[in-house]
Amino acid sequence: MAGDGSEYVGQQILGKGLVVAIDGPSGAGKSTVARLAAAELYLNYLDTGAMYRALTLYVLKQGVDPDDEPAVTELARTVPMTVEDVAHAPRVLLDGKNVTNQLHSKEVNQAVSTVAAYPGVRAELINFQRHLIQAAVNSGRGIVAEGRDMTTVVVPGAQVRILITASEEVRKQRRAAQSGMNEDSIEERDRKDSEVNEFMEPAPGVSVIDTTHMTEKQVVDQIVFMVGHALKAEG
Ligand code: DC
Repeated sequence: MAGDGSEYVGQQILGKGLVVAIDGPSGAGKSTVARLAAAELYLNYLDTGAMYRALTLYVLKQGVDPDDEPAVTELARTVPMTVEDVAHAPRVLLDGKNVTNQLHSKEVNQAVSTVAAYPGVRAELINFQRHLIQAAVNSGRGIVAEGRDMTTVVVPGAQVRILITASEEVRKQRRAAQSGMNEDSIEERDRKDSEVNEFMEPAPGVSVIDTTHMTEKQVVDQIVFMVGHALKAEG
């Protein structure tokens, strides 16, 4: 997007290994804008929700009951998961097979909050996520990491930390349009997820973008602006 400053910020970022941590509830629009911002800024992109979803898919494929915490935790230790960031079209592989288009099935939607709540599962996936983030930093490329606990748990030391929110009504509309899920199941998932992580209120030092009345482009521009500001502060 020439002329809006993103190319300039993108050039400044090169080689710095910058980390942009983004959290927020579902329906706030964070995945789309996080991905677009990563593309504009020449950063890698990590969708951590996709990792919890891929593990859940694996659990279901193995015929393990998602309510069986010890069995699920054991699978989290051994899951043959690969995460790839191919031209900003992230892919998740299980056993070398691309399963990205299976991650939003009804079955996965229903079970993912249960799986993501187990402490042993979180420990494994957080470890994996930090590893991927560190690899992007070491390569000098940098990364946008998006989820529910990026700003608070996974990379609280990120140079840019953002919470993306939207009014409940707008979130409901966006989620229904996206997933086709009924409101009850979405609300139940949100309720379970918020028992594990606080992602409705910003932690100290985290900037909020309320997207209720914003277009996607405006949100991306705001993220690019915040990154530019952080780069200036770093000198
Ligand atoms: O953002 P999403 O809908 O793809 O997330 C899928 C599930 O994973 C959702 O139930 C929340 C959970 N999740 C999490 O607990 N921690 C993260 N960092 C990302 C997602």
